[in-house]
Amino acid sequence: MTQGNENGRANVESLQSYYRFHSAIYDITRWAFLFGRGAILAEAAKFATPRKILEIGCGTGKNLLSLHRMFPDADLTGVDISSHMLQLAERKLLRTGASARMHEKAYSGPMAEGSFDLVLFSYCLSMINPGWEDALLAAKKDLSPDGVLAVVDFDGTNHAFFAKWMAVNHVRMERHMADFLRDHFRTRLFGRKKAYGGLWDYFLFVGAKG
Ligand SMILES: C[S@@+](CC[C@H](N)C(=O)[O-])C[C@H]1O[C@@H](n2cnc3c(N)ncnc32)[C@H](O)[C@@H]1O
Repeated sequence: MTQGNENGRANVESLQSYYRFHSAIYDITRWAFLFGRGAILAEAAKFATPRKILEIGCGTGKNLLSLHRMFPDADLTGVDISSHMLQLAERKLLRTGASARMHEKAYSGPMAEGSFDLVLFSYCLSMINPGWEDALLAAKKDLSPDGVLAVVDFDGTNHAFFAKWMAVNHVRMERHMADFLRDHFRTRLFGRKKAYGGLWDYFLFVGAKG
């Protein structure tokens, strides 16, 4: 086993145990932190009318539900490492008559190459440490030729105490993703935004495959 695999497995296990507790309070707390989730869907919709959609780290299904409302005929797939989060997502979708294929797994390789018109990462990549680059390269393979990648996530903070607190919550805030995204995808949109007057910033990215 390589060091990367070992660290990757440790990351998955500690996130699974984190979300065993946090799944119960996720929806009532995260609206105050995870900004831009509605905006990234609206931005992605300017570049694609997707028939097949994949969300990596779909959590409790907020985005899948919004995507169902935006694209009622689209086929939805969600991937997440946490059975607790997925159960909540399934219930949420069921309640509204929507459905999605759900996969409980760590996303490190493609699901179905060339087949998704939209792949979304919403506040997921900053938690995949190590392995966020592999996840993006897998997403590139999963995208259809005209497919669109959409990412919203924490970017960075100038406040050491806050970076430490976010690390406790498994989030890496080192402005490490933007260059990689721009190098591996054709940028359609990139924007940084401040949260709480600059306590941290987050970014929105929409990119094409080639
Ligand atoms: C902050 S939550 C975001 C949930 C949802 N996307 C949202 O915007 O509300 C991050 C989610 O990513 C999942 N996750 C973390 N690492 C993952 C991986 N390697 N593969 C798939 N899901 C992962 C976590 O279990 C968690 O549900």
